[in-house]
Amino acid sequence: MDQHAGDTLVARLMRSRMAVGLLSALPIPLFLVRSLLVRDNARENRKDSWQRLRGGYETARYEAVRSVTERYAGDGFVLDIGCSQGILQEGLRYGRYLGVDNCEQSITLARPKCDQWTQFMCADGSTFVANQHPDAVVMNEVIYYLPDPIAAVAHHARYLAPGGVVIISIYARTWFSRRLLRAIAARLELVESSLIRSGHLAWTVAVYRPARN
Ligand SMILES: C[S@@+](CC[C@H](N)C(=O)[O-])C[C@H]1O[C@@H](n2cnc3c(N)ncnc32)[C@H](O)[C@@H]1O
Repeated sequence: MDQHAGDTLVARLMRSRMAVGLLSALPIPLFLVRSLLVRDNARENRKDSWQRLRGGYETARYEAVRSVTERYAGDGFVLDIGCSQGILQEGLRYGRYLGVDNCEQSITLARPKCDQWTQFMCADGSTFVANQHPDAVVMNEVIYYLPDPIAAVAHHARYLAPGGVVIISIYARTWFSRRLLRAIAARLELVESSLIRSGHLAWTVAVYRPARN
């Protein structure tokens, strides 16, 4: 029996070197694929298959996002937008962590990890405002699901604590992800960016702060 038989379209494409190469080269704009990505995401949530992000190719990326988050907010407040079941939170050092996702099922899976420093909440990540200014807002593989990713990133940048940062991690090998990152860098100050490679896949991890006028 094919162990990948029930996989979503994105999961299948990511496994194929040829598809990954093609998707990187073709100028496919986000507005053409967003509804497909959102449907795929709903399916991943229903099947609880974001679990697959816990291992394999993704390990290096999660380590990179945790490491950069700890550098900016190791003792501070981390707001994790689109946290799913809180995979990033596991093993992350922080003063306070709040994970937000608009999928109730994922938040239910995450809640057993709540303690006095750790909370999970079901809410829309585009417009969410926490009860404290975050030292780091993390958006790990989520911005392209949002109806207006640039506005959502700008929104979170407005509510940062002094010296706070927005950390965006996104699959690097699509035309639209490169375009999104350029559009964000035109509005916010890019502090640092790295490319994390794992097998035939690669992710950008970029850190932004509000632009100085
Ligand atoms: C690929 S998963 C991200 C995994 C997660 N960030 C991590 O580090 O493990 C995308 C997540 O974004 C969430 N999401 C999509 N649109 C959202 C929105 N408008 N507000 C909050 N979460 C959203 C989905 O429910 C899903 O859990």
